[in-house]
Amino acid sequence: MSLYERAVEAAEFLKSKTAVRPRVGIILGSGLGEFAEQVTDVVAIPYAEIPNFPQSTVQGHSGRMVIGSLCGVDVAVMQGRVHAYEGYRMEEVTFPTRVLKLFGVEQLVVTNAAGGIDPRYGQGTIVGICDHINLTGTNACVGPNEARFGPRFHDMSEAYSERLLEIAQEEAQKQAWMLKTGVYLAVLGPSYETPAEIRAFRTLGADLVGMSTVHEVIVARHMGMEVLGLSLVTNMAAGVLDQVIDHEEVMEIGRKVAAQFSSLLSVVVPRMAAL
Ligand code: ADE
Repeated sequence: MSLYERAVEAAEFLKSKTAVRPRVGIILGSGLGEFAEQVTDVVAIPYAEIPNFPQSTVQGHSGRMVIGSLCGVDVAVMQGRVHAYEGYRMEEVTFPTRVLKLFGVEQLVVTNAAGGIDPRYGQGTIVGICDHINLTGTNACVGPNEARFGPRFHDMSEAYSERLLEIAQEEAQKQAWMLKTGVYLAVLGPSYETPAEIRAFRTLGADLVGMSTVHEVIVARHMGMEVLGLSLVTNMAAGVLDQVIDHEEVMEIGRKVAAQFSSLLSVVVPRMAAL
């Protein structure tokens, strides 16, 4: 079966499980999975039950598709994702994004836990991604092009929607805080970076560093989806502060900022859906 056919099979399976047809999809990163509890009238489907879906092995990524209503808007929330550093092929890493599109999702919110490079960020800062630098060494669209998804060469000049980012900034301001923006640089991982790498990335124009998101965004844009990207700075990257980076700490910060993150998305998603 081709990639397209496998994605159709998975999307048809989701359609068979619910009458809800969300136009907004949300991918939750490390430590942000709790957000799915905001969704009501839920149909939750473990990834293991969805045909052809990859399974996550990382602690803190529980691996379910939560379909339901977020403040009156139909949404499909991915609680957990798989990463290239786990050994998954690009096609597997981006498969759920392909499926979301075939399920009807046109607007995608991608979230992640990231290391802060910009010294103006602190632990727990939520950042709106304005652009990315892909240093993972590969591209999710490598291989024969599937024209039913999109063109061979696709534009990435506005990978992250300016209008969605503006909405998120306006809503943050209404909640009396400022949503800073930043450029997200993706590495393969799983090791965190060295201080020399972080200095190099700063010179390249990166404000945040992480191990996910860019491939999902590349295929989302391939399929013409509109993207909002949000990073949670769980720690400052190596050498920015005099401290080591610990995965448990990454998860803990996620839990602490969960409420702020939830209240932002709860107002941003309805505005996105109304566009
Ligand atoms: N996720 C959280 N912190 C990170 C870092 N410093 N590098 C890459 N991914 C991260």
